[in-house]
Amino acid sequence: MRVIEAFRESFGAEPHGVWHAPGRVNLIGEHTDYNDGFVLPFAVPWGVAAAVARREDGGVRLRSLQAGEPVVLDDIERAEGWARYAAGVLWALRAAGHPVRGADIVVDGDVPQGAGLSSSAALEVVVGTALDELYGLGLTKMEIALTAQKAENDFVGMPCGIMDQAASALGEEGRALFLDCRTLASRSIPFDLAAHGLQLLVVNTGVHHELADGQYARRREDCENAAERLGVDALRDVTDLGGALAKLSGDERRRVQHVVTENHRVEAVIGLLRAGAVQEIGALLNASHLSLRDQFEVSCPELDVAVEAAVRGGARGARMTGGGFGGSAIALVADGRVESVRDAVTAAYAERGWAAPEIYPAAPAAGARRLA
Ligand code: GLA
Repeated sequence: MRVIEAFRESFGAEPHGVWHAPGRVNLIGEHTDYNDGFVLPFAVPWGVAAAVARREDGGVRLRSLQAGEPVVLDDIERAEGWARYAAGVLWALRAAGHPVRGADIVVDGDVPQGAGLSSSAALEVVVGTALDELYGLGLTKMEIALTAQKAENDFVGMPCGIMDQAASALGEEGRALFLDCRTLASRSIPFDLAAHGLQLLVVNTGVHHELADGQYARRREDCENAAERLGVDALRDVTDLGGALAKLSGDERRRVQHVVTENHRVEAVIGLLRAGAVQEIGALLNASHLSLRDQFEVSCPELDVAVEAAVRGGARGARMTGGGFGGSAIALVADGRVESVRDAVTAAYAERGWAAPEIYPAAPAAGARRLA
């Protein structure tokens, strides 16, 4: 394994083990996690492998095969860039009182760049999973996900919800993960695309709109303000949508409209998947996209064009996935239509003079695990 060789070469010793944690695609349930709502992501076949050794002296050395020289950290607070996601997990474990001393870590990632498929959650979760085992902490997978989220919230400074880390930690091959983000109760739901003659195509727009930084926190604030105005703990608790909308205006009204209907769509998709009607979920994916575009306002032209062209090309449904403002769209496509969907999306991008997006199928893969 490349990551083991790189570990030997970097640190002149053998790692104590190798772990892997995946990125994720969210099937549906977007911008619902931090509203105590429902999400339905699955782990993708791409992720981050980490070769790790314990260090009793408390030292920390990090190397990424996708970055330059190893980073030696006398003080993990000083970590920058990609290293901050890894160091943040050590920080969060120590902050929770776990007896985690030092570590040498080499990571090797293959999550497509800029695809919005949560390469950062994969990095956090693989480090958390390795340290849990090497230091015998006995954490559950959900506790590892929560630690990773804490690292991202409080060390990196991105106020994300729990979805990405939970999908990476708890994902299972052939299954999507239904998560109630309030109770953290999860259920794995069969999502066997091949058995239904379907593929889920990921369309990587390759763009990330810089202006978007800060928009995530603003959406979160809109939701929290609306919940306060409505007198509920979180938008999850809105049961009378009409009544709630009548009390709101402007942005807050649109955000609530999205979150409440999106939670319903997650439940509807679960119902269809349980009934074996995978091919029927397309209309809900389309409705989710329109709601994210018009009510939550987190889409962008590249995502909209990908979604519209995919549907025109014969997809059963399509939507943006993840935080928005770039990253990837997903399209549910019958085997026989894959080429026509690819062609339609590629042509729509070419017409606008945009670089061709990468398009590849993704099926649910295993969550975090030990490889060696
Ligand atoms: C990002 C965040 C998640 C979630 C999604 C939107 O991926 O990290 O917690 O909020 O956006 O659904």
